[in-house]
Amino acid sequence: MPAALTLRTVRATRYVLPLREGGSMPGLVEADDDGLYVVKFRGAGQGPKALVAEVVAGELARAAGLRVPEIVLMDVDPVIAAAEPDPEIQELVQGSGGLNAALDFLPGALPFTPAAPAGVSAHVAAAVVWFDALVANVDRTPRNPNMLVWHGNLWLIDHGAALYRHHAAAWPEGAAAAPFPQIADHALLPFADPIDRVDAALAGRLTPEAVGAAVAAVPDLWLGRDPPAERDAYVTYLQERLAAPRAFAAEAEEARRGRA
Ligand SMILES: Nc1ncnc2c1ncn2[C@@H]1O[C@H](COP(=O)(O)OP(=O)(O)O)[C@@H](O)[C@H]1O
Ligand SMILES: [Mg+2]
Repeated sequence: MPAALTLRTVRATRYVLPLREGGSMPGLVEADDDGLYVVKFRGAGQGPKALVAEVVAGELARAAGLRVPEIVLMDVDPVIAAAEPDPEIQELVQGSGGLNAALDFLPGALPFTPAAPAGVSAHVAAAVVWFDALVANVDRTPRNPNMLVWHGNLWLIDHGAALYRHHAAAWPEGAAAAPFPQIADHALLPFADPIDRVDAALAGRLTPEAVGAAVAAVPDLWLGRDPPAERDAYVTYLQERLAAPRAFAAEAEEARRGRA
């Protein structure tokens, strides 16, 4: 059994406003613990696999020692959409009854900008590049960095596009060994230490227990007909990528040198 990692479950009490920056229309939602959360709705166009990626990649990043806002499960009763004048939001919330993924809202956080890279040491930059190469995250580009600077530190958000090969019919066959050339577009590549400098320490933190726990945190509701088999596929994919020698780390380092 993987080490326990229990995500808190909170209940949505009020839909506050939509965050329209990206594509999935997450909502700022208040919960019954009086907290404010950024909710990724299960009924959004990206489908429930985006929520799986949010939890699995988010918790793996945390296990690797990177900063990620607390992830909780948000139980949504569609009635909270009743007061919403926007039919698009109504439809989204109505299609998302039950558990959704939510990140603790960081008040006053600023978006990371490559032009003025605050809060990022070369070491942290290398760690984030390494991590995004591991989970094949296509959404950390200069135009769409999905990083916030909060109280002087870098925080990672929005892992919905990670593990993108899980959308393919053949998943997970061959997926772990497939190249990830998109790492060349990573927003932190120009600021990163050599990736091999962080490789062993980060891989050492992502033990089989850590991988198992991140995958076990995904609720059955977001998976298909055979949740145990689907969980196994994520574990297999990640363990294969994490096995030495880690081709993704070498690929990321090659991309970094190409930039230098
Ligand atoms: N935990 C958070 N704290 C503060 N702001 C956030 C947080 N999560 C997301 N945001 C803001 O909301 C925007 C959209 O969220 P994001 O997770 O990137 O969703 P998507 O890109 O799929 O629409 C982000 O670009 C950021 O400005
Ligand atoms: Mg985003």
